[in-house]
Amino acid sequence: MAFETINVEIDDSVALITLNRPEALNALNSQLLTELSKALAEADQNDKVRCIVVTGSEKAFAAGADIKEMSEKSFVEMYLSDYFGTETDQITKTRKPIIAAVSGYALGGGCELAMMCDFIIASDTAKFGQPEINLGVIAGIGGTQRLTRAVGKAKSMDMHLTGRFMEAEEAERSGLVSRVVPAKKLKEEALSAAQKIAEKSQVSVIAAKEAVNRSFETTLAEGIQFERRLFNGLFATEDQKEGMAAFLEKREPQFRDR
Ligand code: CAA
Repeated sequence: MAFETINVEIDDSVALITLNRPEALNALNSQLLTELSKALAEADQNDKVRCIVVTGSEKAFAAGADIKEMSEKSFVEMYLSDYFGTETDQITKTRKPIIAAVSGYALGGGCELAMMCDFIIASDTAKFGQPEINLGVIAGIGGTQRLTRAVGKAKSMDMHLTGRFMEAEEAERSGLVSRVVPAKKLKEEALSAAQKIAEKSQVSVIAAKEAVNRSFETTLAEGIQFERRLFNGLFATEDQKEGMAAFLEKREPQFRDR
């Protein structure tokens, strides 16, 4: 399907989705979020795709929800349309791993979109923030919840209440991003991480993603039980036999997703 606000490239087993509204620093409007959620659903269904990278431009991953689109909306319009709710729920339902490759601004909905992905690789120019407070609102697509889980209450409150930005170095130190790389290397690093994931058994990759995500939704005891059952279950796969045999035989495993 042809999209207007994003570009989708599939190379081998990695789908690269690039947000493409340069005139608005990739601000998220309804069209972009609808297209992105469709592209992710398609990538999830595409047997060729094993990992997904979502990125923006060098200047902006995304500078937030589109303020022009939202500014005149009423409470009733926002409430009845569940503004962005359907699209973002769809994005977080993606079963295959998604890496956010963030350069420049990741603000408001942009920061929230990056946090909906499974992990964030940032360039040294990245700036994260939840500046909605400056617009007389608050984060609306998960920021108060996901940022708090990522960086803890103190920094999350600071960012949501003052609207200040967090540079890449602080974001890495605080646990919001998994690695920081020079801006010129960002795409290469994210694609290389995606390629590494694509080479694993897809069964264990999806199990790992489900288990980590479960930790946000349940108690420690339930989460550990969930992990244990998935771990046990993986012993029913050919890939477990192959992975362990390859280790013992000192060779690379040939996973077949079975
Ligand atoms: N929505 C709509 N348009 C936006 C935008 C946004 N969130 N962010 C930037 N743009 C547009 C600007 O209006 C401008 O367009 P024009 O040239 O037509 O005027 C263009 O992108 C370039 O932006 P700037 O000229 O402002 O660029 P800059 O380099 O001077 O500043 C910036 C960059 C600091 C990111 C600044 O653009 C900015 O503060 N943007 C808004 C950030 C923000 O408040 N985000 C939160 C949005 S609300 C939200 O996200 C709610 C939610 O949780 C769902």
